[in-house]
Amino acid sequence: MKKPFFITTPIYYVNDKPHIGHAYTTILADVFARYYRKKGAPTLFLTGLDEHGQKVQEAAKEKGLSPMEHCNKMVPQFTNLWDKLHISNDDFIRTTEPRHKKVVQMILNKVFESGDIYEAEYEGLYSVSEERFITEKEFETGQFRDIKKLKEKNYFFKMSKYQERLIQHIKENPKFIQPNHRKNEILGFLRKPLNDLCISRPKSRLNWGVELPFNSEYVTYVWFDALINYISAPGYDEDHGVSKDWWPASHHLIGKDILTTHAVYWPTMLMSAGIDLPESIFAHGWWLMGDSKMSKSIGNVVDPINLIDDYGVDPVRYYLMREMVLGQDANFTIELFKSRYNSDLANDFGNLLSRVTTLINKNFSGKIPNPGDLDTSEINIKNDSISLCLSFDELMKNMRLNEAIELVIRFISGVNKYMEQNAPWKLVKEDKRAAGKVLYTAGEALRISALLLSPVMPNRTKTLLDILDAFDSNQKWGGLKPGTQLNDHAPLFPRIK
Ligand code: MSP
Repeated sequence: MKKPFFITTPIYYVNDKPHIGHAYTTILADVFARYYRKKGAPTLFLTGLDEHGQKVQEAAKEKGLSPMEHCNKMVPQFTNLWDKLHISNDDFIRTTEPRHKKVVQMILNKVFESGDIYEAEYEGLYSVSEERFITEKEFETGQFRDIKKLKEKNYFFKMSKYQERLIQHIKENPKFIQPNHRKNEILGFLRKPLNDLCISRPKSRLNWGVELPFNSEYVTYVWFDALINYISAPGYDEDHGVSKDWWPASHHLIGKDILTTHAVYWPTMLMSAGIDLPESIFAHGWWLMGDSKMSKSIGNVVDPINLIDDYGVDPVRYYLMREMVLGQDANFTIELFKSRYNSDLANDFGNLLSRVTTLINKNFSGKIPNPGDLDTSEINIKNDSISLCLSFDELMKNMRLNEAIELVIRFISGVNKYMEQNAPWKLVKEDKRAAGKVLYTAGEALRISALLLSPVMPNRTKTLLDILDAFDSNQKWGGLKPGTQLNDHAPLFPRIK
């Protein structure tokens, strides 16, 4: 049996509706989930919502709703968008669900029993927006808002106890934190002594959270609660630990701003609870609008719904996956979106399909011609397709999705050149069999390209395969059946003006 593949997105805060950044991570996870499913690996793709904490409590208050009412109202904002984006998640977790809260309490008990939770009086500077105490140094940076002096009794998790073990783990497992520069960032952070983590909030200040099992006057710090979704969803119990079907997770996909919580808090929590660490934490960059950060106050937040309505879901998925070098920031502008769409999808991919089908319809009564024996240029394309499939897999294994997509487009563009060199529209008048060979070859190249790109653009590639009447999902050359009648179609990727 193939190794199971378990991929997660961050669980999103329900204080606001989702934007293009949330859509990006979720599509990214979806592409990998679809890819591994296609390879025959048992796959669990998990996403969901982070519903506790101060931010949510405040957002609810502003609307005059109870936190639970507010959360219930926000859920469709996310699930409807995921439907619209054709997200194929297998599970959707909400941290207010009993199945989750139960596991948070089990883990708290377990960590408590390991002697890793202690009570202490703490006086310090508290940032309301960050929902945590900040250090003097952090205060001096001026980056924190809503700060007040606070003295409180709280519960602390002995994170510092696991510092050395964590450093060791990161060094011994080069893929644990990806990409490399993020790993170095964490190793740099771990060069300084690690503080313990305050994991409780007194109910007098915040009551929207999971109650501590050992003191009902407190709720759990929202991050300690939220991270546990990665094991509460696949299933955890005290006797068997996390479900062996899925754990350890293959990838936690996250944005670069939540790296410390995932690469420091989460692994030390797991160590204390005696649970294996995930295989990898992958931090992607941010979508910038032009050169600036996307923010509500600037008013440049891109709503994915409008984009899908205007251009269709597959082009949006394609653009987001193609444009961002995984791990780096990327720029979002409508101009870039349109020019990428026109050059890759309309002029290359779509154009090749319409050339092939038009010529087959006109000269071969719409039936896929017989390739006969392959000549050198056909053998070259066949060989290119074989090496394309191998390189594609290699790149996907290494999370280099944008390069994998680029390879397919380069292959398609090569086939377009081959069409021009052989000009089947002229050739058909002199040597119909030779023209048939060219059209078969281009059609087969389209079939293989569509199969490779299907995790990125599940709908349009399916349409393409339907047009070719190609139901064989084998990427081996020769899947297109001569004599098959083509199905009618509208242009697959009409040019955007
Ligand atoms: N609730 C926490 C995550 C808990 S996971 C156990 C959270 N939620 S969030 O809704 O604020 O952010 C979710 C994700 O959106 C983060 O990974 C963040 O990096 C990502 N993005 C927010 N803005 C973004 C862009 N402009 N571009 C790309 N991703 C961005 O944090």
